[in-house]
Amino acid sequence: MTVSFCQDCSTKQFLTLFSASMPRHPMPPDRLTPRPGRLPERGPILDEDDMMKAIVFDRIGSPLDDFAVLHLREQPLPFAGAGEALIRMRSASINPGDFLFIQELYPAPKRPQYPQIGGNHGTGIIAEASPEVSLPPGTLVAFSYYNSWAEYAAVPAEWLIPLPADYPIEKAAQFMNLITAWDLLEQSGVEPGQWLALTAGNSAVATMVAQMARRRGVRVAAIVRRISAQRDLTGLGAELVIELSQPSKPISEQIDAMTGGKGVNAVIDSVGGPLLADLARSLSPGGKAIIYGGFGADPFALHNFDLLMKGSAISSYVYRYFFEPPKPQDRETLQAIIALTAPADFKVLSAGAHDLDDFRTAIDETLHRPERGKRFLRM
Ligand SMILES: NC(=O)c1ccc[n+]([C@@H]2O[C@H](COP(=O)([O-])OP(=O)(O)OC[C@H]3O[C@@H](n4cnc5c(N)ncnc54)[C@H](OP(=O)(O)O)[C@@H]3O)[C@@H](O)[C@H]2O)c1
Repeated sequence: MTVSFCQDCSTKQFLTLFSASMPRHPMPPDRLTPRPGRLPERGPILDEDDMMKAIVFDRIGSPLDDFAVLHLREQPLPFAGAGEALIRMRSASINPGDFLFIQELYPAPKRPQYPQIGGNHGTGIIAEASPEVSLPPGTLVAFSYYNSWAEYAAVPAEWLIPLPADYPIEKAAQFMNLITAWDLLEQSGVEPGQWLALTAGNSAVATMVAQMARRRGVRVAAIVRRISAQRDLTGLGAELVIELSQPSKPISEQIDAMTGGKGVNAVIDSVGGPLLADLARSLSPGGKAIIYGGFGADPFALHNFDLLMKGSAISSYVYRYFFEPPKPQDRETLQAIIALTAPADFKVLSAGAHDLDDFRTAIDETLHRPERGKRFLRM
């Protein structure tokens, strides 16, 4: 499968490439159907007349008007159907991908069904569940599905990732980013002592990759547009920070100096354009570049020989649970990610949590001041 997304909220250009063999899963069951009535097995916590707050949109949105389609609305609680759990949401992250969803840039079945609640990732507590669900009420779970920008979400149990009760909430709310960081590092094949270059080095995912890489003895160069006095990337795993707005030398020369002329063994990129082309040319023999986002608006240009003569490669990564839920055999990996990231010395960047009533601030800050860090909605 080859999928790449290119988006830039400031220029509003995009590019999507999807292969015909994209895996499918059935559309989720009637995600916004109001509850038909009290379930016989329903516990005493919730009443059929209960209402909840949700951030809803009724049509395709655009960053040009700061996603003015989004509205805070009171609506009936969702209904947990067969095999589903009703999650009392605690926190949901606001991610570049959530904006792609509102712009209808994701392929089917990741399409809004109007009226659609925003948000695709979050964490909460199981409030009640249908009899088929084995996870008990009270379990802290993370999920990447739909409808996370709301006080409650009905989610098929297979999409839920159970977490320890004391797992930090700002990590649980973006557990998808932690899984992504883990997978990117694995896919890069970079080994202890080798060099890894990360673009958008200030982003949440890049800082997670850097910390995971450092723990494996990988040497990390974080490439940023601007060095922020508020963010110590060397304390977040980077051995070297390259600032693009202050180019003392071309990036290829800086990489030569950094690696003693050997080149970087891997590049993990969410920017694209000329920067990716330069980095791909700076790969060491057999090196890999992985595309997982497309912040930049420009395409990249390479000659075939740029890759061929060194046996290097460019591939893409799509979140492993984008189209399909976790499998039982993934349990060990998910436990390893939880164990690695739970301790306080594994940092995630948080610029703050906002009540649903204040969602507009959270959206505006994410769009216009992403360098301040990730925003969360709290419920
Ligand atoms: N493929 C997947 O499955 C997958 C999964 C998760 C995330 N993603 C992608 O990963 C990327 C990072 O996500 P995130 O949640 O970590 O982002 P984030 O924390 O919101 O990233 C914010 C940072 O990105 C940098 N940035 C923003 N626009 C940029 C541009 N045009 N050029 C260069 N840098 C830019 C800025 O760095 P400076 O401070 O240097 O300006 C900013 O500090 C996104 O593209 C997202 O879509 C992909």
